[in-house]
Amino acid sequence: MTQPESGSAPHLLLATCDYPEHVPRDRWEPYARQQRELGLRFVRIAEFAWSRMEPQPEQYDWTWLDEAIAAYAAEGLGVVLCTPTATPPAWLIRAHPEILPFDEQGRVREFGSRRHYDFASPVYRQHSQRITRAMAERYGQHPAVVGWQTDNEFACHDTGRSYGGASAAAFPGWLERKYGTLDALNGAWGNVFWSMEYTDWAQIRPPNLTVTELNPSHVVDFYRFASDMVAEFQAEQVAILRELSPGRFVTHNFMIFEKGFDHYAVAKGLDFVTWDNYPTGMLEFFAPPGFDGHKVTYARTGHPDLIGFNHDLYRGMLRGSVERGAWEVGKDVFESSPPNPPPTPHDPGFWVMEQQCGQVNWAPHNPLPADGAVQLWTAQAWAHGADVVSYFRWRAATMAQEVMHSGLLRHDETPDRGSAEVGALVDAGLNRFPLGPVPARVALLHDYDSLWFYDQQKHSASLNYWAQVMAYYSALRSLGVDVDVISADADLTGYALVVAPAITLVDTDRAARWTAAVHRGVHLLCGPRTAFRTPGGETWAEGQFGPLTALVGAKLGQYDSMRPGLSQGIRDAQGQLFEAQYWAESYRLSAPDAGENNAAEALYHYAGGPLDGQAAVIRRTAGQGEVTVIGAHGPDLIRTVLEDVLAGLNVPTTRLPDGVRFSRRAGQTLVQNWLPTPVEWRGKTLAPVSFEIVGLTESVQGEQ
Ligand code: GAL
Repeated sequence: MTQPESGSAPHLLLATCDYPEHVPRDRWEPYARQQRELGLRFVRIAEFAWSRMEPQPEQYDWTWLDEAIAAYAAEGLGVVLCTPTATPPAWLIRAHPEILPFDEQGRVREFGSRRHYDFASPVYRQHSQRITRAMAERYGQHPAVVGWQTDNEFACHDTGRSYGGASAAAFPGWLERKYGTLDALNGAWGNVFWSMEYTDWAQIRPPNLTVTELNPSHVVDFYRFASDMVAEFQAEQVAILRELSPGRFVTHNFMIFEKGFDHYAVAKGLDFVTWDNYPTGMLEFFAPPGFDGHKVTYARTGHPDLIGFNHDLYRGMLRGSVERGAWEVGKDVFESSPPNPPPTPHDPGFWVMEQQCGQVNWAPHNPLPADGAVQLWTAQAWAHGADVVSYFRWRAATMAQEVMHSGLLRHDETPDRGSAEVGALVDAGLNRFPLGPVPARVALLHDYDSLWFYDQQKHSASLNYWAQVMAYYSALRSLGVDVDVISADADLTGYALVVAPAITLVDTDRAARWTAAVHRGVHLLCGPRTAFRTPGGETWAEGQFGPLTALVGAKLGQYDSMRPGLSQGIRDAQGQLFEAQYWAESYRLSAPDAGENNAAEALYHYAGGPLDGQAAVIRRTAGQGEVTVIGAHGPDLIRTVLEDVLAGLNVPTTRLPDGVRFSRRAGQTLVQNWLPTPVEWRGKTLAPVSFEIVGLTESVQGEQ
């Protein structure tokens, strides 16, 4: 097997997740050798191995881990070590049952799988720090250890929030620190509404088990509290790792479409983020409404936009908030150990820490990936900014919960289909995947508070926050446009178009930042329900668009939530008809106050139905920029308006056929066909489930 090129320009590197504690001792050296021979450079280990590191309270056994790390080091593999806190051992739980979390039904979540802890538990916090310190003291300066992963997939299996025990005990104190007085809390939550006013902090419980709807303000404050607990929990580990393991990176492996905590807050303090990419399971299990029609066609590849969105989300997670790129962190380690020529740092880089390489075990249906899918996933990850792709897992598990899950090796240790694809990718040369920036001129804004409020009062069973966001993201991708997914509070400088599909919470600071960006020349395009809420969860007294009213030059008219089968017509100025599904809101054009004298203009109107004749899509010029608002949910409408706006901004677009996607990085364009059938397009045949890399000097078919 060809080795990754050494001495060449920085390029994508590959890795795997391995579990030496799952296999006999005599496998460690041969596995490490095979991993190196396959062309892998890193191995991630130990995230679930607490019971082997500390079989009895404070009796550590490091012998096995010393030997496992030595086996990888002997083959020149860089080791990413994990703190094992996703799996507190039985002795710890039975000694301190107060560590266990409670589900939303108020039941204890028992020992016997993983993630059975409450982030707010003071006892667990101590043990988390103790095991982190013990590991870091032992391995913090080990030459083969290139970095650390904290825990594993925070909030996976709905474990971001605990509805009893330690969290229930800590929640009132958190609220008291936030609000100071009960009057302030009662006011912010609107507790007069159903006589929900509190007269003592101790009366406040987590928001669950109520007779009917929960108060969204109560819910979102609980989510914010729980998110703070995750951030604190991790920060305690990070502080120890920084102290004892200088020069190594610290990261966390985040999840697909996870909403259990504010990722921007939890990612702060990490060197770069990583995430876990399971494309077929993602489509089966995590796809938002709107993707049902794709579940068969893309069953063996996953849907490119669901995957692409998560790549872009995690690429943007630390944008602007870290100074160093993924590769500059731990540069000394990288340079002194064989894994690679150190690539040029860029802002800020991410890894795919777990990449599906065969079928998964946890979705309702778990099809084999199509031939070529593992290569396509890897290439797509690169094109969206990944510096390293790490396959989960080396050998399929032969015991316990995940025996139905694939690995690069089968249960019998022979190479599985994923291994063959990885080998072929390496043979063809990883220097085809150079590191470098993703040149997005379009940003899509994302915000966890908005997600939480949106989904707490969806007002439509057919649309949630992710569905609304994905409608815009998919429309952009279907036009061949690269997208940065960034925080709604990020710096917007340099973008031609900023899309805010579902930012329902806009406070005065956010409104001021957006307004300034538009005045400087950004085109801001908003979806329905933008700026509907205050940070507390009430509506703005002046109604939607609250503090954005002057910028938008309009106010909300009416909103209509339509069941499947109902629709609402919309016409543009030329009379072309579009259809809105699920959601339609109309606007009253108003001349804003405060020195602005032009109201928004209506570009599209509702046609027929209860909103007949009212404004559906509006636009207003402000300073050097413009604001467009699309009030209705309709994929064709969204794509047409985006296409028109992008043309005005000189951002090239190409209407791509179904299944075809472009992604650009480092001066290359990755042309992808995700369909199980060939696509004939502009005189060219794109093979099923395949990609091509087209350089700057060559022309991409159809690129304008
Ligand atoms: C991930 C998790 C892994 C493994 C994998 C199976 O979410 O981090 O430990 O369970 O799923 O697909």
